[in-house]
Amino acid sequence: MEFAEREARGVSSTYERLSLAVARDDEVLALLGTLPPAKRQPNLLFGVVRLLGGPVDDPAAFHEFTVRNWPAVEAELRIRATQTNEAGRCALLLPVLAALPQPLALLEVGTSAGLCLYPDRYTYRYNDDMVGSDGPVLECTATGMVPPTGLPAVVWRAGLDLNPLDVTDPADVAWLDALIWPEHTHRRARLHAAAAIAAADPPLLVRGDLVDHLPALGAQAPPGATLVVFHTSVLYQVPPRRRTAFTEVVRGLPGHWIAIEAPHVLAHDALPDPPDKALHNVLSLDGTPLAWTRGHGQAIAWFA
Ligand SMILES: C[S@@+](CC[C@H](N)C(=O)[O-])C[C@H]1O[C@@H](n2cnc3c(N)ncnc32)[C@H](O)[C@@H]1O
Repeated sequence: MEFAEREARGVSSTYERLSLAVARDDEVLALLGTLPPAKRQPNLLFGVVRLLGGPVDDPAAFHEFTVRNWPAVEAELRIRATQTNEAGRCALLLPVLAALPQPLALLEVGTSAGLCLYPDRYTYRYNDDMVGSDGPVLECTATGMVPPTGLPAVVWRAGLDLNPLDVTDPADVAWLDALIWPEHTHRRARLHAAAAIAAADPPLLVRGDLVDHLPALGAQAPPGATLVVFHTSVLYQVPPRRRTAFTEVVRGLPGHWIAIEAPHVLAHDALPDPPDKALHNVLSLDGTPLAWTRGHGQAIAWFA
């Protein structure tokens, strides 16, 4: 229900309808109930069914496919996680990145396939203002801010993830594609355009934990560049005690820290009301909240 009302509504009518139907589907709920709680997320289930070629646009057909193919669905649910990699979130990072002392050494924790490590290779449209001229165009509705006028200079890019995905592996790209919501053809095109950019000049991707392995990776950043550790939609997958450990580690590094996370996941002392009832994340720099942001990078409302 929460997924339907706060995440899918107004963003994917297919997933809003499907998640409302699944919330009332005792048979599918009983099957999901046999899995650990982290494996019961709507987005994970819908992505797995899509990966297996099942229908998501008709709730009755979805029910039939899921129940009939449960062994295969369950096997994929158990090995996969929601690793959606959304290059569009670079539109939320850019205003902060462009204002930091250049050049930048970027280190993204929870990087998935590393597509957010290329904020200098995409083009942005904030309302009517364009920034950049190459790569996919990332559209973002911006309020309360003057859009950046230029791209950052990036001299190093590294990503850390428990399970880094490889944009040169068709199976990994197929999973990233299956995670994109059905009507979002613009996001699917963006994924493939961004994957081509990453494949042409791959980042350093390290398999590891964002607490245990961050200091060693940060130490590899070149001297003379501003180290920027950042993460977008990651900490909800990290247990609360490890989130605290992470914020302590990241604050101890010589550089800046950009977070884009839900406010119940990364708390801030004082926040204004969000622009509307939709689910919003908070953009922060070194722990100071700056803006409300929408999940796929489609909107930013600056309040600082
Ligand atoms: C929802 S994805 C977001 C990916 C990317 N940040 C983006 O916004 O497009 C979250 C990623 O965090 C990674 N992750 C979760 N817990 C982690 C941990 N403890 N250490 C490193 N990565 C982690 C997952 O494997 C996954 O790839």
